[in-house]
Amino acid sequence: MLSIIVAVAKNNVIGKDNKLIWHLPEDLKRFKEITTGHTIIMGRKTFESLGRVLPNRKHIVFTQNPDFKVEDPNVQIVHSMLEIKGYIDDQEENFVIGGAMIYHLLMPYTTKMYVTEINKDFKGDALFPKIDLNEWKETKREKAQVDEKSKLEYDYVIYERKK
Ligand SMILES: NC(=O)c1ccc[n+]([C@@H]2O[C@H](COP(=O)([O-])OP(=O)(O)OC[C@H]3O[C@@H](n4cnc5c(N)ncnc54)[C@H](OP(=O)(O)O)[C@@H]3O)[C@@H](O)[C@H]2O)c1
Repeated sequence: MLSIIVAVAKNNVIGKDNKLIWHLPEDLKRFKEITTGHTIIMGRKTFESLGRVLPNRKHIVFTQNPDFKVEDPNVQIVHSMLEIKGYIDDQEENFVIGGAMIYHLLMPYTTKMYVTEINKDFKGDALFPKIDLNEWKETKREKAQVDEKSKLEYDYVIYERKK
């Protein structure tokens, strides 16, 4: 199965200039806990913005560039939706980790979303698709601790696709 994991501002912004805008250490810790041991799927820009291969996770990176190569056994490059089918195990939970283009591309195939909803608008150039509540049901909402440094308030929300 495919699940999305994302941190979203109130106005759906998720990034600016190929970077995250906020720094929420607790959310990053949660991202690590949820995704470790699983396959993570991302766009080439998000892969480059990570700056490294994340430990204990198989990476699938989308690009349209046939010359884009990464010499690492934990990184698989793919060029189309058809190609990823060969690299993901449908019995397992596989995580779509962004960015905007890849969330748009893969949301129709996704059945669960782990959304960190930040209670503030941000200026940015990468947007998460609007969650259509005709298709998705909120099944869990937990208030996170207010971030000490930034004072940002946010919730951990789970959405599951309606049958
Ligand atoms: N808040 C969050 O949780 C979160 C999570 C992840 C990322 N982000 C943010 O999102 C932003 C990046 O998002 P983005 O939309 O600019 O980039 P992206 O989705 O990470 O990557 C886009 C790239 O993916 C490849 N691609 C897209 N569609 C494809 C397709 N149909 N087939 C093959 N390859 C395809 C292309 O690579 P080529 O150009 O190489 O062809 C494209 O340029 C950054 O600001 C990042 O910080 C936020």
